[in-house]
Amino acid sequence: MVKPKCVVALGLPSDMIDTLGDAYDVAAWPESQPMPEAVLKDWLTDAHGLLCALSTPISAALLEHASRLQVISTISVGVDHIDITAATRLGIPVGHTPGVLVDSTADLALGLMLAVTRRMAEADRWIRAGNWAQGWQSDLLLGTDLSQATVGIVGLGAIGQAVIRRLRGFGSNVLAWNRTPRHMDGVQMVELDELFARSDIVSLHTAMTPETTHIADRQRLASMRAGAALINTGRGLLVDEAALIDEVCSGRLNAGLDVFSVEPLRPGHPFLSQENVVLLPHVGSATASTRLAMVGRALENLHAGMAGQALPYCANPEVYPISDS
Ligand code: DGY
Repeated sequence: MVKPKCVVALGLPSDMIDTLGDAYDVAAWPESQPMPEAVLKDWLTDAHGLLCALSTPISAALLEHASRLQVISTISVGVDHIDITAATRLGIPVGHTPGVLVDSTADLALGLMLAVTRRMAEADRWIRAGNWAQGWQSDLLLGTDLSQATVGIVGLGAIGQAVIRRLRGFGSNVLAWNRTPRHMDGVQMVELDELFARSDIVSLHTAMTPETTHIADRQRLASMRAGAALINTGRGLLVDEAALIDEVCSGRLNAGLDVFSVEPLRPGHPFLSQENVVLLPHVGSATASTRLAMVGRALENLHAGMAGQALPYCANPEVYPISDS
């Protein structure tokens, strides 16, 4: 029997590829570098399934070319690397991995808040550079207290809510904004402009869509208090990065960033020389158990799509006809 073809557009452990090979004719990209678009286009010509991740942009042109494609499964909750409008128009379901990375990402956002407000990365660099010549000093590397901070949460989805649950333990005052009305005990819902103007820390947790692109724009960043911090574990394009560079280079704002408008960060990027910015390489979901759970959901989606069934975690459920039952 001829097996359906499945393209795996990222490096995965060989035992996983072997298991997929039991069911599918697998074309697996063997490199750690992202797959070039021309190669992907070629491989997708006769493919039925695609397993991918954030490093593989899936354009409308690629999808129109992949005339047999019946499922895209991405190992991520975000689907902004995929032209979801085109996939929906072409009737291709897109599977993603919601739910399983909430706690890991919320932990990392809290980590960034503490790292920025207590200057942890800067202190680590300072020690390693051999600067610790005296013992305890009363004014060494002074920071600010999370317990005394007003923290503004942009986006009250699962991750935003998980961040707030953690902040309760610190005793922070929490403001929040959401696209649609939401309520959470102990949280003051405010307009976006007010949130930026009143917060000591603004943390971004809204999904990346055309409407949320540059939600942290130049004007909102300029309205933030001097010494305030922007935390971003969502997507780089939620922030007007040029405006943020100006704010952190002037020393007015601090930042803790796990995501960037272009990844990886290019050598010589202005953030790299700023003490007041903590930088992480898009590792919000990077714990062993979370990554395993993400792969698990992605495989469930892939297998369902390859069998012509509805995906259990579908980002564009409108591809399915509405059932009368
Ligand atoms: C996602 O899943 O969208 C994260 O950004 C990467 O884990």
